[in-house]
Amino acid sequence: MNSERLIKEAEEARQNAYAPYSGFSVGAAVLAEDGSCYRGCNVENASYGLTVCAERNALFQAIAAGARTITALAVVADTAEPVVPCGACLQVMAEFNPTMTVIMAGSGGVRSERNLQELLPLAFKKT
Ligand code: THU
Repeated sequence: MNSERLIKEAEEARQNAYAPYSGFSVGAAVLAEDGSCYRGCNVENASYGLTVCAERNALFQAIAAGARTITALAVVADTAEPVVPCGACLQVMAEFNPTMTVIMAGSGGVRSERNLQELLPLAFKKT
C-alpha cells in the first residue's frame, strides 16, 4: 500500500473522531508487515486526561488483531502544516518498529514523510 492510500484510510478514520471537547479531529492508519491496514481516531472524554490519540488507537487495533511489526503510520488533521504525532504516541510507535515510516498530512494536500528514528531518535527502552 502506498502513502496516498494510507492517508486515505486515515482520512476516513478521522470522520469517526470523537472530539467534542477540543473540536480537533484526528485520523490515523497503520500498515502491518503482512499488508493489513488498521485505522484509529482520537477518542476524548469528559475527564480530559483519559483521551486517547488517533495514532495509539490505530496501533492498538493492529496489535489486538495479532500484528506485531508496523511498517508505516499515517496521521491526518485539518491543519495548515502536517500534523506530527505527540511524544507519547511516538514512544508507543517505537515499541512496534523504531524505524517505521511516518506519513503526516494536513488539509489541502500538505504532506511530510519521515522515519520514526528522526522524530524520536532516543526512544526509551529497557536495555
Ligand atoms: N491528538 C491526536 O489524536 N493525535 C495527535 O498526534 C495529537 C493530538 C488529539 C488528542 C485530542 O483529542 C486532540 O487531538 C487535541 O489535542
